[in-house]
Amino acid sequence: MAVELTQDGDFAVLTLNRPQALNALSFQILKDIGAAIDAVAGMNVRALLVTGAGDKAFCAGADIKELRNRPLVDQKDGAELGQSVFAKLDRLPVASVALVNGYAFGGGAELAMACTFRLAAPNAIFGLPEVKLGLIPGYGGTQRLPRLVGEGRALEIIMTGRNVKADEAERIGLVNAVIEGDLMQAGRDFAGKFTRYSLPVLNFARRAVARAGDTTLAAGLEIEADLSTLAYRLNDAEEGMAAFEEKRKPEFKDA
Ligand code: CAA
Repeated sequence: MAVELTQDGDFAVLTLNRPQALNALSFQILKDIGAAIDAVAGMNVRALLVTGAGDKAFCAGADIKELRNRPLVDQKDGAELGQSVFAKLDRLPVASVALVNGYAFGGGAELAMACTFRLAAPNAIFGLPEVKLGLIPGYGGTQRLPRLVGEGRALEIIMTGRNVKADEAERIGLVNAVIEGDLMQAGRDFAGKFTRYSLPVLNFARRAVARAGDTTLAAGLEIEADLSTLAYRLNDAEEGMAAFEEKRKPEFKDA
């Protein structure tokens, strides 16, 4: 299977498993990723870890060999397929962490950027090299990269198609951390810092922060007021505040 979904304790692990083509995204693989993300929503897990098989690439992007000689309408469908599959990660009830172990180019960088968080191995190299193919990014790169690193940096990376190595990716905010050693364990440790908290509360936080990039400050503050108020309706809010007063650890129930 070119897309594998397994469970490892509290974590779902989605592995792109096509190392002979540097885990390039055929249209079938994109559809399989979509089905896997849908399946994660029904699993009893608290975070999703996304990785690429092999030690060379997270994912080298869309399968270039499938992109040629297609009617324009199919090209548009392809972009919308990639965008809609990656957008599933936004709506997933658990946060996702991309574990970038090597190249993350084009659609691969776009998949990583669609995850909630990104950790990079020291050999990780990001890039949106579509200009070199006479193209521009089509699976969300022109929208998510500026939200992560700012418009000026994003345009420069997109218009030059240059490589962004792990240390620069960390410096500009493209990744949360560069990890020496076991990236999968680092992913579990990273996610473990929030997975003990109430899932609906974490989702309120994700939804509020997601709006920061596409609303006015006034509208964003209203959303924050609504979602932060909604949190008081949860038993977990009562439990968290009671535990504070009683000087004990809270026992959240995701409700
Ligand atoms: N699509 C299809 N096959 C790919 C691929 C891709 N994106 N990237 C790598 N492969 C294949 C290669 O064709 C090669 O297969 P063969 O052995 O059958 O020839 C195999 O993977 C290994 O790749 P290389 O021999 O090229 O490995 P390398 O170490 O010399 O180079 C690389 C690695 C620099 C990542 C290089 O493979 C490369 O530049 N790949 C293309 C990266 C790219 O342009 N990505 C953007 C795609 S377009 C896109 O993603 C649009 C969008 O917005 C969705």
